[in-house]
Amino acid sequence: MIIQPRTRGFICLTAHPDGALQSVKNQIEYVKSKGAIKNGPKKVLVIGASTGFGLSSRITAAFGSDAATVGVFFEKPASEGKMGTAGWYNSAAFEKEAQEAGLYAKSINGDAFSDDIKKQTIELIKKDLGQIDLVVYSLASPRRTHPKTGVAHSSVLKPIGNSYTNKTVDFHTGVVSDVTIAPVENEEDIPNTVAVMGGEDWKFWMEDLKAAGVLADGVQTVAYSYIGPELTFPIYRNGTIGQAKNDLEATVTVLNDLLKDLNGKSYVSVNKALVTQSSSAIPVVPLYISLLYKVMKAKGTHEGTIEQIQRLFADRLYTENGEVPLDEAGRIRVDDWEMAEDVQAEVDRLWKETTTENLSEISDIAGYRKEFFNLFGFEVDGIDYEKDANENVQVPSIE
Ligand code: NAD
Ligand code: NA
Repeated sequence: MIIQPRTRGFICLTAHPDGALQSVKNQIEYVKSKGAIKNGPKKVLVIGASTGFGLSSRITAAFGSDAATVGVFFEKPASEGKMGTAGWYNSAAFEKEAQEAGLYAKSINGDAFSDDIKKQTIELIKKDLGQIDLVVYSLASPRRTHPKTGVAHSSVLKPIGNSYTNKTVDFHTGVVSDVTIAPVENEEDIPNTVAVMGGEDWKFWMEDLKAAGVLADGVQTVAYSYIGPELTFPIYRNGTIGQAKNDLEATVTVLNDLLKDLNGKSYVSVNKALVTQSSSAIPVVPLYISLLYKVMKAKGTHEGTIEQIQRLFADRLYTENGEVPLDEAGRIRVDDWEMAEDVQAEVDRLWKETTTENLSEISDIAGYRKEFFNLFGFEVDGIDYEKDANENVQVPSIE
C-alpha cells in the first residue's frame, strides 16, 4: 500500500513505517556519533517511550550507554489492512535496531496511568532485569483515568484570569492571524489539568517500583518540563498547563524523600520547545517555534529531541564528576540555548514583524512543517513514498 499523509488540523491520521524506521536510525546514528556516555545508565524504564522526548531518551540510553530498556507507551498496532500509529512504528523500529545491536529491549503497550500497566511493567522488570537504575517519565496526554478514584480527568490549554490575544499560525496554510483564548471558567479545569499532566502519576510509578524492590541503589528519575518566553506565559507557564508543570516540579522534593534510603535522586529537566505531537496542539506555540528554529539554526544552536536528550545525559545527568548542574530552583536546564538573551531578543523582534506575507521569509515555517510530517514518518529524506510501504510492522516483544 502507498501511504500518504492525511491531516486533520494538528493531527496526522496516517503514519509511514519506513519513514519511522529511517527517523529512528537517524537518531541512533546521531547518538553513536557523539560517543559513549561514560557512567551512563544500564537498565532503564522509559514511560512515554514511543515518540518525542521519551523516544529520544530510550534511544540515548540504549545506543549511548548500551542500556537495556523497557518502554511503556499507548499506541495503536498495525493490523491487517490497517495502519498503526507513528509511535507504534517508531517502537517497532527501535526494537529491531536494538535487537540487531544485541541490546535488550521490551515494550508494554497500554495505559500507563493504570495500576494494571504498572503491575505488568514491574513483573517484566523483575523477570528480566531485576532492578533498574533510571526511570524517565515522559508522558504527554490530554486525559487520565485516575487509578484510585476511577474519575476521568481531561486537561485544558487555557489562560488563567484574563483572556489572551496573540498571533498564531496555521502551519498547513501559513496564515498568521490573531487568536483570543478565553480564560478558564470551569473551576475544575485547573485541578483536572494538574491531575493529567502534574506529578501524581510519576509519584505513583516511583512508589510502586520502590515497593516492588525493583529500584537499584543510586537510582535516578527524570521528568520533563517547559518554561519558554514571556510571550507564551499566558497560554503556557501561567496557564492551566503551567499549573501542572509547577506540580510536576514540586514532586521532585517528594520523590527525593522517597528515594533517600536508596541513595536515589529525582530531577525535572526543562527542555526546549520542539515540534512534537503535543506541542503542535497548543495555540501560539507553533509560530514561536517557527521563529525560534529560524534564529537558532542561523546561530548554529538548533537542537531536536535527540540532540537535547543526548546533551541531557552526557552533560547533566551523567557528568564525569557525578555532579548534576541545576538552576536556582533545583531544575536541570537544557533549554539554556533557547532562553539565551540574544536568541530571545531576536525572536521578540521577529515576532512583532510577522505577517502571513513575510512568514516564509522571516520564520522557519518550512522546517516546522517538515518536522511535523517527520513525526509521522513522512518527508523523511531517503524514503521513496511512491513505493509500497512495509505496512504490517510489529513490535517484536509484543505478541
Ligand atoms: P509526545 O506526544 O511526543 O509523547 C508522549 C508519549 O506519551 C508517547 O510515547 C505516548 O504513547 C505516551 N502516552 C500518552 N498517553 C499515554 C498513556 N495513557 N499511557 C501510556 N503512554 C502514554 O510528547 P513530548 O512532547 O515528547 O512530551 C513529553 C514530555 O516532555 C511532556 O511532559 C512535555 O510537557 C515535555 N516537554 C515537551 C516540550 C515540547 O516542546 N514538545 C518541551 C519541553 C517539555
Ligand atoms: Na515522549
